[in-house]
Amino acid sequence: MSWTSRPYESPADLRLMQAFTSECLRFDWPAPAFHPGDLDWWSRDSVSGAVPLSERIRLWFAGEPDASELVAWGWFGLPRDLDLLVRPDARGSDLAEAVVGWAAERAVALAGRGSTPDELQAFAADSQPLLVDNLKRLGFGETAGAMTVGLVRRFEGWEVPKPALPPGFSTRTLAAGDIAERIVLGRLAFPNSQLTAERYDVARRSTLYRPALDQLVAGPNGSLVALALGWLDPVTLALELEPVAVHPAWHRHGLGRAVCLAAIRAGIALGATTGLIYAESHNVAGLGLYTSLGYEITTRMRPYRRPLPG
Ligand SMILES: CC(C)(COP(=O)(O)OP(=O)(O)OC[C@H]1O[C@@H](n2cnc3c(N)ncnc32)[C@H](O)[C@@H]1OP(=O)(O)O)[C@@H](O)C(=O)NCCC(=O)NCCS
Repeated sequence: MSWTSRPYESPADLRLMQAFTSECLRFDWPAPAFHPGDLDWWSRDSVSGAVPLSERIRLWFAGEPDASELVAWGWFGLPRDLDLLVRPDARGSDLAEAVVGWAAERAVALAGRGSTPDELQAFAADSQPLLVDNLKRLGFGETAGAMTVGLVRRFEGWEVPKPALPPGFSTRTLAAGDIAERIVLGRLAFPNSQLTAERYDVARRSTLYRPALDQLVAGPNGSLVALALGWLDPVTLALELEPVAVHPAWHRHGLGRAVCLAAIRAGIALGATTGLIYAESHNVAGLGLYTSLGYEITTRMRPYRRPLPG
């Protein structure tokens, strides 16, 4: 197979990548590896002072760049992580080698002086065995690192219950004045969160962000206690929830369920027909919540590593 590639240039490339991600999502359903909303959510990191997306994303085309179809994208995460999406009919081809070669070059080029990582880590879904075999042929081995699971459910035929909340609690959508508190809540739930107001602003200006899908639960004193952000793919009508979180002081009061139901109901009102969520495989509470909402695990994204030449 022959192809050409170029680095990410502008937000128009994100749209191209999202259209391609939708196509793959449809092909790979019910076990897709990515949702187009992921790309908007990840791109929140493209704030001033951060490594620009042009140095972390590359696009591969079937022929002449921009005059032919996209066949793959690679998204590099510092210091050593590669997410890649390859067209289904090319997953067994040497296209993966090109993406991996680019990522290895990025790991070295973007490393600080003297701190080049020892390994490159690529993620691949069990539902894409051709890609997994390809990575293994390229010297990657499975590691014990954190695994992500993908869960899906159909919305058709589901009488989605109204969110049930303890007295004094209510669901609502995010208002501009909520952002600082929303970020604090996210940081309490995800201690490694790097979210800032600037990053959240990037996410809110992204293509697939819908204010109606940015759901919150407020407690009796008005403070925020839960959040769920929905991303609706207008092509496949799949609704992804990312992220979902409840204030640690309020776990197991039904707030996670309520905020997810609020986001799902808002998504269905906008046309969503299916739901998709990714969660870390060791997140017992997250998996418990999503399976209690009728989501089923359909794939596992495993990390694979290979040494980087020193
Ligand atoms: C995951 C999280 C959102 C759950 O929120 P929550 O408000 O505690 O969940 P709910 O009270 O609504 O629970 C609804 C159902 O989910 C399941 N569940 C929730 N927590 C659970 C746990 N720790 N273990 C097993 N099942 C659990 C149960 O079926 C529960 O119903 P039940 O209480 O009637 O048994 C919360 O633990 C959290 O914010 N964790 C940190 C952030 C995070 O991991 N987010 C998810 C990322 S994918």
